[in-house]
Amino acid sequence: MNRSWAEPWKIKMVEPISVTTREHREAAIVEAGYNTFLLKSDDVYIDLLTDSGTTAMSDRQWAAMMIGDESYAGARSFYKLVEAVHDVYGYEELIPTHQGRGAEHILSQILISPGDVIPGNMYFTTTRYHQERAGGTFVDVIIDEAHDPTSMHPFKGNIDLDKLAAVVEEFGAERVAYVSFETNVNLAGGQPASMANIKAVYDYCSQRGILVMLDATRAVENAYMIQQREAGYEDSSVASILSEITSYSDGATVSSKKDNLVNIGGFLAVRDPELARKARALLVAFEGLHTYGGMAGRDMEALAEGIREMVRTDDHVRSRVGQVEYLGNRLIKFGVPVVTPIGGHGVFLDAARILEHLDQDEFPAQALAAAIYVDSGVRGMERGIVSAGRDPLTGENRRPNLELVRLTIPRRVYTQSHMDVVAESVIEVFNNRESIGGLTFTYEPEDLRFFQARFAPIAQDA
Ligand code: F0G
Repeated sequence: MNRSWAEPWKIKMVEPISVTTREHREAAIVEAGYNTFLLKSDDVYIDLLTDSGTTAMSDRQWAAMMIGDESYAGARSFYKLVEAVHDVYGYEELIPTHQGRGAEHILSQILISPGDVIPGNMYFTTTRYHQERAGGTFVDVIIDEAHDPTSMHPFKGNIDLDKLAAVVEEFGAERVAYVSFETNVNLAGGQPASMANIKAVYDYCSQRGILVMLDATRAVENAYMIQQREAGYEDSSVASILSEITSYSDGATVSSKKDNLVNIGGFLAVRDPELARKARALLVAFEGLHTYGGMAGRDMEALAEGIREMVRTDDHVRSRVGQVEYLGNRLIKFGVPVVTPIGGHGVFLDAARILEHLDQDEFPAQALAAAIYVDSGVRGMERGIVSAGRDPLTGENRRPNLELVRLTIPRRVYTQSHMDVVAESVIEVFNNRESIGGLTFTYEPEDLRFFQARFAPIAQDA
């Protein structure tokens, strides 16, 4: 018999949530301009907007917050964090920031000169924004399978070494600011890179003097996928796999609001003390003093404990990814097109296939996310043409192959029955998909437009 897993925790405190009426949600989505980012959380029943900063902390983390050292300089809590990052990720130099994008900003400013290129395995919104702002150009070198939602490739986050070599040949190694290597690639659907690929990229780059900087935001989930899928790692702990991943890099940016089990925080970590010196010089201008960056002492305490907790045993990540797979498999069973294999942090609905009657310019993923919200109060997020934004040179919409709605699962927050309710709603909307019409912009922000854009239904011809 296939035995069930269960969460390796029990619930000590609860936060009530309430169900709203359909009528209420219809009004709320209009008020929010059909953008789930603009909904009030009080109008949301099950919130799958993001796994970022939405974690439930443990009793140990809450206890740690009480002993936070709020000294402006040299706080004890900072040194605890340095130790935790060193023990778990292996990096010597820690630059604490308020969250991931703070680290991306600093990294981009110290490594990118105007005209540089930054090859990476699919863009992430804020990462690419900071790379472009520093005068660089992001070049996507992820394997082709990553852009195909139906491909069952076990490591869709891999970098295509031929594509990488072509970029290096075209621009020369000296114009490659660094390789931006994301673990468990968010916009590909939470898809991992293999250890063999991470090592091969690092070998290739270090021979040519090119730095490899990880976006290690979801590296624990990637490590778990390696344990489950890559030959030779089935008996290794997630902690040891994570150490090996980071050993093939020169540094990393991390949004601690994901793997690290806290509600706010992030860091840049590097090996080279000279790079760290440059980063700290900017840190004091943009984030805070080098021993707190953007965090309070108590935040650093909770983070240090979260970093240790996420890999203390493998049970945490097994149940975390297990819950995501549970939801994904229920949807697959009822024929809902989703990105496969099911990713580490969420289930990604294939809006292009679900709403085949809509053109990509009619924002199918945006419309689908709004329809699911109206059906049940479940909040997901568009990850398609709206998130991709416009090409800064041509001003044209980028048209990504992936037009997705992300249902992102917060860590340690919802139960299996919440997942059942979500699945039932998505199946209901899927069965009535022909009734969903397209959207058009009523307000389009210049930068990172998906956060604050507003939409209205496209007028139907009478
Ligand atoms: N890198 C990745 C892969 C991310 O997913 C995020 C954030 C960041 C960097 C930026 O970190 O939010 O702490 O500034 N992702 C969130 C999400 C917003 O919903 O996927 P941040």
